[in-house]
Amino acid sequence: MAESFITFKNVSKTYQMGEVTIKAADSVDFEIHEGELALIVGSSGAGKTTVLNILGGMDSADGDGGEVWVDGKEITRLSNRKLTEYRRNQVGFVFQFYNLIPNLTALENLEIATQLSEKPLAPTDVLAQVGLADRTENFPAQLSGGEQQRVSIARALAKNPRLLLCDEPTGALDYATGKQILTMLQNTCRQTGKTIIIITHNAAIEPIADRVIRMRSGKVHQVSLNPKPKDVADIEW
Ligand SMILES: Nc1ncnc2c1ncn2[C@@H]1O[C@H](COP(=O)(O)OP(=O)(O)OP(=O)(O)O)[C@@H](O)[C@H]1O
Ligand SMILES: [Mg+2]
Repeated sequence: MAESFITFKNVSKTYQMGEVTIKAADSVDFEIHEGELALIVGSSGAGKTTVLNILGGMDSADGDGGEVWVDGKEITRLSNRKLTEYRRNQVGFVFQFYNLIPNLTALENLEIATQLSEKPLAPTDVLAQVGLADRTENFPAQLSGGEQQRVSIARALAKNPRLLLCDEPTGALDYATGKQILTMLQNTCRQTGKTIIIITHNAAIEPIADRVIRMRSGKVHQVSLNPKPKDVADIEW
């Protein structure tokens, strides 16, 4: 049995809104192995983004004894400086609405990310990998939604992270383009051995993943493993 690359143990996140207490994450436990494609599935408000942001070091869990381990380090206990290093070097993030910088070209959007990381890949190579070799000098507004999302995936990959976190990466795309993006993420996982976590509302894509973590009301209510994940091309939703 491979050792877990990621472990959540009893992780909670509470928001206090005046009188109301919201448990966005409620004693969350799961593990993910290195090189897996994992999905976090659940309806709106289930706590998916909360969990991904804690894993990415962009948000902190409640200080009540929960633990988040990545590659043998407990990230809930890192100093601010170490946490910044973790975010810069280990984690690539892909957002639903791409979050590209509008007045920088595709290439410059990658360069700004690679300048901050330790062992980046060459931005032009990564743009070529996502099929955008001839669009490097275009600004985001000159690209289609699918192309912008490919730039955003390239930006995350160019940092050469071990962990790629994607929050509804196809949520803003049409069916065919979404399928292309998922194919690219599945191929990246298989070819580079990176660990990729994708958040989705769409339970129909569960067969493409090695591991499916289902969330409801801040809790993980089920985890399942697919010994033989399907190719994205072979499923319909
Ligand atoms: N900063 C915040 N302040 C207050 N409540 C918050 C905050 N962030 C999230 N929540 C609440 O925590 C719960 C979980 O939110 P989260 O964003 O993790 O859900 P989600 O599963 O990603 O939903 P969606 O599919 O709509 O993106 C929700 O009830 C949300 O309103
Ligand atoms: Mg969300």
